[in-house]
Order: sequence, then structure tokens, then C-alpha cells
Amino acid sequence: MTAMFTAAAGGTLSFPGGFVWGAATAAYQIEGAAGEDGRGTSIWDVFTHTPGRVAGGHTGDVACDHYHRYRDDVRLMRELGLGAYRFSVAWPRIQPTGSGPVNAAGLDFYDRLVDELLAADVSPYVTLYHWDLPQPLEDRGGWTERDTAHRFADYARIVHDRLGDRVGTWITVNEPWVVSVLGYGIGAHAPGRASWRDAFQASHHLLLAHGLGARALRDAGAREIALTLNLAPVTTPGRLDDPEAALSAEDAAAVDLVDCLINRQFLDPVLRGEYPAAVLDVVERAAGLGHIRDGDLETVNQPLDLLGVNYYNPCVVSAEPGEPANPAYPGTEGIRFGDAYAPKTAMGWPIVPTGLTRLLVRLSRDYPQVGLLVTENGAAFEDTVSGEHVHDADRIAFLEGHLRAAHTAVDAGADLRGYLVWSLLDNFEWAEGYGKRFGIVHVDFDTQRRLPKDSALWYRDVIRNNGLRA
Ligand code: NOJ
Repeated sequence: MTAMFTAAAGGTLSFPGGFVWGAATAAYQIEGAAGEDGRGTSIWDVFTHTPGRVAGGHTGDVACDHYHRYRDDVRLMRELGLGAYRFSVAWPRIQPTGSGPVNAAGLDFYDRLVDELLAADVSPYVTLYHWDLPQPLEDRGGWTERDTAHRFADYARIVHDRLGDRVGTWITVNEPWVVSVLGYGIGAHAPGRASWRDAFQASHHLLLAHGLGARALRDAGAREIALTLNLAPVTTPGRLDDPEAALSAEDAAAVDLVDCLINRQFLDPVLRGEYPAAVLDVVERAAGLGHIRDGDLETVNQPLDLLGVNYYNPCVVSAEPGEPANPAYPGTEGIRFGDAYAPKTAMGWPIVPTGLTRLLVRLSRDYPQVGLLVTENGAAFEDTVSGEHVHDADRIAFLEGHLRAAHTAVDAGADLRGYLVWSLLDNFEWAEGYGKRFGIVHVDFDTQRRLPKDSALWYRDVIRNNGLRA
């Protein structure tokens, strides 16, 4: 087993034929043009314009101005040889009030973008919900309201009606854990609420939105339907170094509970049609179970073609009597959230590529019916521009380590179909504003000039070679 977690040294590491190489972004993080062409207001517009919510008071009003520069950005994608580009559709551009009337100009933008991508030989991968809920829906309760899930399904159908003839892969929702916990549980993200009752209602309704949306897309003839989750292998400090290390019963229970909260709370309903008992227990104490109705889990458990995996770092826990619950994980009294003691990115996130191997192998073992696509992996670093270059060796090392880890997972039998780097462009990093740069392409936010970093040129070679050279 141990060999499975060891990155291969040297040699050419080729990925399977047809492996998808690409990059990802999200509407609010790059588009800008917040007040243009009939776009409505989203919860992120309101949140960013509320003093004290986002570092530096930054907003997505202009962002990378991609709304006006998408042609140049697609040209860049073609130059890098991307096979796929994952972007999100801004719901408020399509339905400014979140329901009812459709804004034709909003659909027109994505129509032009898709045509531009296809002309550049880049396959469009569309995410329907990457966090920019129309504010009028939030005013009616947002994701704590069941009706929002039904409105999402309507919106999914509207977008598919327009783009479905050219878009093959549809991702319903991005990272429901982050939406519910950061948005509704601790208030670090829009809409900025801090109530566990709200958070658990939101997470269930996001799953319901996925199910209703997936059903609507399937009925409309969508080729490939996916959901993207932020997933983290959960482990103890000892097992981080040695996956075979002995585990006490207390540590095993700590690992199980946290794994249930961050991973299985979403994986199990979607892929098995049930919530783990430990999740129901925590939800019942925080929110009651009244919002989970008969038949919901069948709706959530739609056939899925791909599971989108966003991997950034593992979660390290151990049993520690007397430890208070982690603010982001209700019910975790007596569990210590530790440090992976690894080098960190500019976000302070530990760099642990083996976590990706572990995660992918486990997903294919426990949920064998679904193919896997890394829909996000990447890192923020303190980049410096020197002349016409950004020598981001740290990002290249990060990406290379994770690609080796992904390759090891494939060797061990993980059904991995592709890899999308986060992100194509430096962009608006939510509560962190523009200070954290994840792009393989540098963006000067004063001039909007794009400058491919060394990592972009390196990635172009990886794509050309369908893998890594020795
Ligand atoms: C996941 C989110 O989907 C994306 O929007 C975000 O920028 C990255 N993580 C980095 O935090």
C-alpha cells in the first residue's frame, strides 16, 4: 500500500489517452461589468460593498474585466493549448431577480463565449452556481429556503436551452460545504450569516438544488452532469507521514466525524442516497431535521457522470479531551485540528500532494460508479513581476507535485479523467480580495494586462506531452 502514496521518481509520466487538461475560473471572480447589460445584483455585490467584509474593501465590480476581454482571454487559452475551460454562469445575468424574466443580453454573453471557445478548440465546462446568488432570492431566505432549489432548476434549464447544443459538461453547484459553512455558518462569505441552523438548511437545499438541477439537465439531454465538491482527506498527524501508522479508537472516531462533516455529508446523499448517521446527529442538534423531507434523498441521488474534485490540502485531526469545537465544524468538541507541518502557500494552506493521491484512490474505491475530474487544484504565492516574466517556481513545484500525485492515483486504479488548474487568471479571491494570486497568468489590475507566468508556459508543455517529462 505504501508505494501508492509515493510519487514516481524520474521517467516520463504519461496520463491516459483522452485525459482532459484545462483551467478554471468563476464569474464573480473575473467578469467585472457588474452593472452592465441588465445584470442583477448578487449576494456577493452586497457583501463586498458592506464595509469590513472583504480585505482591502475590494469588490468584483471590475475584477479581470473578462466580460469585455473574453476574446483575448480565449486567445490566451488557445496559446496555452488548454483542452477545457471551466467557467461559471452568473445567475443574476440570466435572471436578474433570480426567478421569472430572462435577460437576453446575459445569455448572449455566454453564447459568444462558448462560440469563441469552440473556435479555439477549447471545450466549455459550465458551472451553474459558483456562489453569486441573486440578492432578491436571498431576500426571500436564500439557501435556507427550499424554494431556492426549485428556482435553481428553472435557471439550469434556461441556460441549457441556450447553450446545450454546444456545451457537453455541466457542473451544477460548486463547493456546497463552503457556501453553507462560510456563507451561513460563520459569515466569512456572502451572505454573511452566522447560524448553524441556517447553514445546515442551506447545505441540504444546495444538495436538493443539485438533484433538481441534474434532473432538469438530464431531461433536457445534457451529455455529462457533475457536481463539484471541496474534498479533503482527513487524517491524523501520525498517518500523514505513514498511512499505515496505528490509530487509536479515539483518533479513528475523530477522523470519521470530520470526514463525515466535510466529505460524506455531500458524497453520500449524492452518490448513495443517504446521509451518514453522524451527520444527521450533528444536524439534528443544530437545526432539527424538519427541512429534510421524504423523497429528498432520491432527488439528490441522481445518476452522476463525473464528480468534480477541488483539492487544496488535507485536514489533520486527533482526539484531544477538553478541546472546544472548531468554529467551522459544529459537534467537534474533543477534537484537535492540527497542522500538517508542511510548507504553506500564501493562503497559509499546507502543501501536501500525497493528499490528492489518497483522496482520488479513496473516491474511486468508495464510489466506484462515478468518474473523477479534478475541477480545481492550484496555489496562491507572492508572485513578483520581473520585466516580462513572473518566475513562479513555487507554483510550478506545487502543480508538478500534485500532477505526480494524481498520476500515482491513476496507477492505483483511480478513475481520473482530467485536471483543471485553479486558476487561469489572478482574480478576486473572495474574502481575501485581490491580494491572493492563484493564476498561472498574472493580471495587472491597474492596466488589465495579462502576463503568462512561468507556470503557464510549463503547463503548456505538460499539456503538449500529456504528462510530465523526466
Ligand atoms: C475554491 C473555489 O471554488 C474558488 O472560487 C476559490 O477561488 C478557490 N477555492 C481558492 O480559494
